[in-house]
Order: sequence, then structure tokens, then C-alpha cells
Amino acid sequence: MNRLLSVSMLSADFEQLGNSVDMVNKSEADWFHLDIMDGVFVPNISYGFPLVRAIAAKAKKPLDVHLMIVDPDRYLEAFKEAGAQLLSVHYEACTHLHRTLYRIRALGMKAGVVLNPHNPVELLNDIVQDADFVLLMSVNPGFGGQSFIEHTYNKITRLKEMIAKSGSAALIEVDGGVSQENAERLYAAGADILVAGNAVFSAGNPMQAIRQIKGIQ
Ligand code: DX5
Ligand code: ZN
Repeated sequence: MNRLLSVSMLSADFEQLGNSVDMVNKSEADWFHLDIMDGVFVPNISYGFPLVRAIAAKAKKPLDVHLMIVDPDRYLEAFKEAGAQLLSVHYEACTHLHRTLYRIRALGMKAGVVLNPHNPVELLNDIVQDADFVLLMSVNPGFGGQSFIEHTYNKITRLKEMIAKSGSAALIEVDGGVSQENAERLYAAGADILVAGNAVFSAGNPMQAIRQIKGIQ
């Protein structure tokens, strides 16, 4: 069982971005989670390539790039060049998801598929074997600092069963509203990777918050 943590930089203080990257480098966190929003697929715009490159230049851990954009196929190479090691696309944004996942893998990245809260995990029955990880949104995508949707536990359990039956090695990532309060239950339910932004950066001691979320004493 994995207990990985991907820190969402959306909640970092961008005036001191270098310090935030250093903090994550020195912490027990495993990945940098970078949220790319286009103002069309989600009702918010976040940041683009210059910031991804700036983080990549300083990061000593893999970049886990979450694309909340329409037609993500147009940008797969560009995110690889910007420094992404893991790249996830929304099920809802891909007409030819199987092709997209294979293109991500062919570029040398781990391929993830993301499901919005209203979409059943059963949608992935015939594609889960082709994904390196599945990201379950536990808030509606677009903003950091939202409340966790409790139904996500049920989806983790069903997805875990589906992955086991398929013989796939896909990991389960959970994104949105993750905190010191719900992390243990999420890992126990079968989440391999948790994403946390607000819970880390609003803490007085972000490195300690990272340890607490991962359950490190
Ligand atoms: C939401 C993003 C999340 C977000 C998580 O659209 O995909 O990655 O940054 O932030 P918190 O942990 O604050 O809910
Ligand atoms: Zn995200």
C-alpha cells in the first residue's frame, strides 16, 4: 500500500514561490501537484508554462501535472518539455481517451485519467488497464480550499475493486479538500496518492502538516 502525498502549489504564496518549492523539496512530500486551468473547462484560470518551467528548474521531486483544460491533446508535448513526469487528463475532456493516454506514455510520462465528482468510476471499466493512475476529484475542480465530498470514499472502494479485477497496476489519487482530518481514512480506503494544497500552505508549519497528512509521527 502506498501513502504518497502530492503538494498542490495552487495554494502557495506566489511571491515566495522559490521558498515554497524548497520547502516541498525538503519535506516528506513525494510529488509537486500543478493545476492547469484554462477558464473554459473549469471556471478559473491558474497558471501556464512559465510557472511550470520555473518550478521544474528548482524541483527535486516529480511534477504531477493535472490538466483542467479542453482538448488537452494539443499540449501533451509542451507539458513534457516543461518538465512534467506525470500528466493527467479529464475523462470529460477527451474524445479519444485511449489514444491520449498512449500518447502521454509514448512521450515518457505516467498517464492519469481524472473523474469529476458526478462521474461514476464504472466509466473507466474499459480503460483502467491503460492508465498508470486514476485521479478522483473530491471537490468540483477549479479552486483550492473547498470542502471534501464524502461520497469519494465509496468511489475509492469501487475503483479499488475494479482495478484489482482488471489486473491493472493503476494507482488511485484523490484531489480536493484533503486534510490532516481525513487523510488516514482515505489511505485506509485505498488511496495511494493524496493531493493537498490548502491544508499544507495554510498551516503554521507546512512541513509538519505534510508529515501529519502522511501519518508520519
Ligand atoms: C482543484 C485542484 C486541486 C486543488 C486542491 O481544482 O485540482 O488540486 O488545488 O486544493 P485543496 O487541497 O486546497 O483542496
Ligand atoms: Zn488538482
